[in-house]
Amino acid sequence: MIKNLLAPSTLEFTRHPNTAALAEMERAEILADPGFGKHFTDHMVDICWSARGGWHRPRVQPYGPIQLDPAAAVLHYAQEIFEGLKAYRHQDGSIWSFRPEANAARMQRSARRLALPELPTEYFLQSLRELIQADASWVPSAPDTSLYLRPFMFAKEAFLGVRAAEKVNYYVIASPAGAYFTGGLAPVSIWLSTDYARAGKGGTGAAKTGGNYASSLVAQAEAYDHGCDQVLFLDSEEGRYLEELGGMNIVLVKKDGTLVTPASDSILEGITRDSILQLAEDRGHRVERRKVTIDEWREGAASGDIVEAFACGTAAVLAPIGSLKGADFEITHLDGDESLARSLRQELTDIQYGRVEDTHGWMMRLDSDAAADSATE
Ligand code: PLP
Ligand code: COI
Repeated sequence: MIKNLLAPSTLEFTRHPNTAALAEMERAEILADPGFGKHFTDHMVDICWSARGGWHRPRVQPYGPIQLDPAAAVLHYAQEIFEGLKAYRHQDGSIWSFRPEANAARMQRSARRLALPELPTEYFLQSLRELIQADASWVPSAPDTSLYLRPFMFAKEAFLGVRAAEKVNYYVIASPAGAYFTGGLAPVSIWLSTDYARAGKGGTGAAKTGGNYASSLVAQAEAYDHGCDQVLFLDSEEGRYLEELGGMNIVLVKKDGTLVTPASDSILEGITRDSILQLAEDRGHRVERRKVTIDEWREGAASGDIVEAFACGTAAVLAPIGSLKGADFEITHLDGDESLARSLRQELTDIQYGRVEDTHGWMMRLDSDAAADSATE
């Protein structure tokens, strides 16, 4: 790939400030109660890619509608991927992200699966810094709030033949975020889907691509109909093994302190889950990444061998699971202040918000190039 060898190691962004940026008062009102995914900042990043020219025309521009040809391949064949990570404001005002290189690497894996171009890690990190530089005032400072960053990429080429598109765009948008679940930190309820699968063997389950979420929606609607917050999927072949929730990974906790989480080629490898399991291992907990059957959970909950379960992901952080409902059963778990889930959530967020030392080198500063450079040394 001669083109890649010639590609610059960093991009020269052009910056086009939003002359209609929201007034400070209106922004403050949004930041006081951001919810999740409802409000967007004043700017966005846009980088073009073409098979002939590689990555080009990097820019920060006003947030706004994207013009698409009705024949754009993404609208027909769903050639799209995305990422999700957060920018956290620390007490001294500085702005940081959590393991952004891991998101860059996962986006590259998703790109390979969806036949999209791989965005180099340095371009990914630069795109985040550029957006933060333009929209720093949108990073909230109230407890448990952050700026959710949503990088995404899709096939823009107007062509109806089914093949990998030769014109693609990468964007980053940002949205101030509070709690993902409306109940805040209260335990969540989970609906077990037995009629629908999220992903199958050899499919796109491990990629962060819109189609996986599209296929989860009817099952998620079923969860809401049963009064549940999230849906749990089982493997598509046997319908026995836990996979993951619609938008989060799952972890069970045994009485002896062992954490058990599904190993599967068709789930998204969560960065939150990986980090929480690392923190648990640091504390001396045993961690098992293996196949877990739904019967193991049901029987373990009944016998008292499984004492906690939790959901984890960037948007949700870590939510204790209070109950799992199926068509003909219900499991409940008690949630106390002393739960392992709550204490791991505390430790993780203490790192993310800079309240304790980051011994794993997970944090990267976004609001200053000098600091960002020293953080990556
Ligand atoms: N699984 C799914 C389907 C998700 O959408 C997410 C959220 O991004 C996760 C797991 C957790 O991934 P992460 O912790 O990297 O956000
Ligand atoms: C995230 O946690 O970043 C996700 O993409 C999941 C979605 C439920 C918002």
